Amino acid sequence: MEFSRPPHRLRLLVAAWVLAAGVAVARSRSPRCRDVTWCGNVEVPYPYGLDKECAIHEHFHLNCTPVDGVSKLFHGKMEVIKISVQDNKAWLKTWISRQCYDQSTEGMVYDDAWMDLTGTVYVLSADDNRIIVLGCRGLAYMLSDSYVIGCVSTCDDGVPLRNGSCSGTDGCCQVDLPRGVRYYQGYFNPLYNTTQIWRRTPCNYVSVMASAAFRFSTTYLTSTEFYDKDHARIPAVMQWAITRNTTCKEARINTTSYACVSNNSHCVTNDAGYACNCSSGYKGNPYIVDGCKDIDECLYNVTYPCPGICKNTPGSFTCSCPRGERMNRDVCMKDSKFIWMAPVVAGTSIGLVLLVVAIACACSIQDRRNLHIIKQKYFRQHGGLLLFQEMKSQQGVPFKIFSEEELQEATNRFAEQQVIGHGGHGKVYKGVLKGNVQVAVKRCIKIDEQHKKEFGKEMLILSQINHRNIVKLLGCCLEVEIPMLVYEFIPRGTLSQLIHGSHSGHISLDTRVRIAHESAEALDYLHSSASPRIVHGDVKSANILLDGDFTAKVSDFGASILAPSDESQFVTLVQGTCGYLDPEYMQTCQLTDKSDVYSFGVVLLELLTRKKPLNLKGPEQEKSLSMVFLEAMKENKLEDILDDEIKNDENLEYLEEIAELARQCLEMCGVNRPSMKEVADKLGRLRKVLQHPWAHKDPEELDSLLGESSSVVNSGIILSTGNFSITKKVAMGLESGR
Ligand SMILES: *[C@@H]1O[C@H](CO)[C@@H](O)[C@H](O)[C@H]1NC(C)=O
Ligand SMILES: *[C@@H]1O[C@H](CO)[C@@H](O)[C@H](O)[C@H]1NC(C)=O
Ligand SMILES: *[C@@H]1O[C@H](CO)[C@@H](O)[C@H](O)[C@H]1NC(C)=O
Ligand SMILES: *[C@@H]1O[C@H](CO)[C@@H](O)[C@H](O)[C@H]1NC(C)=O
Ligand SMILES: *[C@@H]1O[C@H](CO)[C@@H](O)[C@H](O)[C@H]1NC(C)=O
Ligand SMILES: *[C@@H]1O[C@H](CO)[C@@H](O)[C@H](O)[C@H]1NC(C)=O
Ligand SMILES: *[C@@H]1O[C@H](CO)[C@@H](O)[C@H](O)[C@H]1NC(C)=O
Repeated sequence: MEFSRPPHRLRLLVAAWVLAAGVAVARSRSPRCRDVTWCGNVEVPYPYGLDKECAIHEHFHLNCTPVDGVSKLFHGKMEVIKISVQDNKAWLKTWISRQCYDQSTEGMVYDDAWMDLTGTVYVLSADDNRIIVLGCRGLAYMLSDSYVIGCVSTCDDGVPLRNGSCSGTDGCCQVDLPRGVRYYQGYFNPLYNTTQIWRRTPCNYVSVMASAAFRFSTTYLTSTEFYDKDHARIPAVMQWAITRNTTCKEARINTTSYACVSNNSHCVTNDAGYACNCSSGYKGNPYIVDGCKDIDECLYNVTYPCPGICKNTPGSFTCSCPRGERMNRDVCMKDSKFIWMAPVVAGTSIGLVLLVVAIACACSIQDRRNLHIIKQKYFRQHGGLLLFQEMKSQQGVPFKIFSEEELQEATNRFAEQQVIGHGGHGKVYKGVLKGNVQVAVKRCIKIDEQHKKEFGKEMLILSQINHRNIVKLLGCCLEVEIPMLVYEFIPRGTLSQLIHGSHSGHISLDTRVRIAHESAEALDYLHSSASPRIVHGDVKSANILLDGDFTAKVSDFGASILAPSDESQFVTLVQGTCGYLDPEYMQTCQLTDKSDVYSFGVVLLELLTRKKPLNLKGPEQEKSLSMVFLEAMKENKLEDILDDEIKNDENLEYLEEIAELARQCLEMCGVNRPSMKEVADKLGRLRKVLQHPWAHKDPEELDSLLGESSSVVNSGIILSTGNFSITKKVAMGLESGR
């Protein structure tokens, strides 16, 4: 992160419990353990237990402690208010972060909260929680180990403050959570503060919380009620798993420790790991023998309506009409035809058999037709027809619309072993198409309504991009609820794996400069030659893939357009990857081509130093690589942070040139950064120098080769950002028209 933290940062609230990440061992329960215990009025079902012996393993051991005379349930320091075995979720109280004006110092004071679930069986449920920011002049983020997501909350003139509303301009904004978050920290941008408006609204707040438990009240802005009503705590929903990071397939291997022991139960894989559920038609606790009990559907005639004679069966029920009546539009009716036909059909058993066969056939045809209709619906919803027409008119577009079966077959039904990567937006599977063509299939997790309609159009734009350093989109599949993308398969993995992976060896300077140059050219192509122009929006070493001969291939641009965006037009969503995010973008919420330049600068640093862009474990000043680098540049200590592998007495000047380019990319102000074209040109020249080793020994030669570019870059060509301050969507030529 580029902006500095304010000096009076208080770390008052620490919400962390890191349990020893020991091997989870299922014990056989002692007979005195009960299936359900209570703590105060909270039900504690197995696999949880208040006793070490009664919990399935140590991570499910809870404490029941009296607080002010009332028994409360705790997991480490966090209070548990509800546990659901059916959904494998738990409701825990987490902490609110706030930023308030302090009259005595006439500055802002901060109460930071963070949560660390690494090492536990929990992840924050992406379906049930939201990041919510309250305040009249606040920009707050959730920093997780790999994401920054946040929004701006303002109180605009003319927008009435209403209870229960949260649109971004009425004192409250909210954004969705990515999946699989185990660590987060609330963070305020100090440039948005309440020093001007403290008399009316002294504080801003941010927290991850259960959306169902939150209702905005106008009094939250003017008083400290929101923070104080439950000692700065707020409920959030956790998804839990018996063993984290374990799939069902892996869990079943060891039958002794496999937790789904009830008959009529099955294993489910969720964001946290593997867990159990009763099969459909059964209800109860899948973690205890015989815990899943048959549901008597006939007792619940609202959920399971039956107009005639209801009969419960194991796992299901039957519903029939009394003799001589037949079901017509969910009502039993006297059927004259049936009476007339009855003797005829009954008379000949062959007739009966034929009838059954005919009905079975009809049903199966109907089923298949229904499936076909659903697929067609999705296809149309995603703009498939438009794409289809367009492709017919433009012959020779090497783009294919895949069927769901084709991709299922290619990826072995999306088997876990085929997963080659995952990010906030979805999983990427390796697949093999007919004809032994290797592909990467990207399956997104979520897509919003607006993007669904535009999907076909977006695909068309992406399919026309043709650059040797950009991963080629081969096709897509539209007939599923959430579309899938099919890319060419790049064998060597990501640049991030190459430079930070434990197995990679020496990487020559030559290779590093080449990767930098090729990536810069790809980005320049997106910025200036693609039509419409495209801002990548998430440039990072993990999005630069490497071919067999280390040719760089930029990936994942435009895929970010599939990210769930905000519901309200007022809420501005800031999304990207920690350590790479343009500080100006975080403040203005406007993504420009210069945001890509900034992120590219961070990639250059990674190549020069072989250090990670963000080091959360280090001391405050050493967390951000760009900060460490800029500090070193200022103090003339660049040499100290360069990777020893590439540094020697002869090429220091050369490395300084690259470092200077990186510094320019990392300028705070976007207009002062060079364009991607200038960056690519300069790297191109530097690459040439490397191919002519004589240049090393003659600094003047080097200067003359580089001088040209340096002057261009140093003069700070000013690209009118006014014209280019486009959001990602507009850059794609896909203005939503909202
Ligand atoms: C299976 O789980 C039990 C209990 O957790 C453990 O003792 C045993 O070593 C495991 N077996 C294998 C093959 O991993
Ligand atoms: C478990 O099954 C019930 C009923 O079949 C269903 O409502 C619930 O969503 C399932 N839970 C999970 C985590 O799959
Ligand atoms: C919102 O509700 C609070 C009480 O919860 C009340 O004091 C306040 O006046 C309400 N605000 C509006 C605008 O109705
Ligand atoms: C508050 O924000 C303004 C800019 O909006 C900034 O100049 C000022 O330094 C900030 N004050 C504090 C105490 O952070
Ligand atoms: C969990 O899985 C991820 C990705 O598969 C891996 O990087 C991580 O090390 C795993 N963690 C544990 C504790 O096994
Ligand atoms: C579970 O089901 C199997 C057959 O499906 C049956 O043999 C066994 O008795 C059942 N166990 C219980 C406890 O009902
Ligand atoms: C459901 O059952 C109750 C009592 O058994 C009956 O009064 C009610 O009318 C039934 N509702 C429907 C929709 O059949």
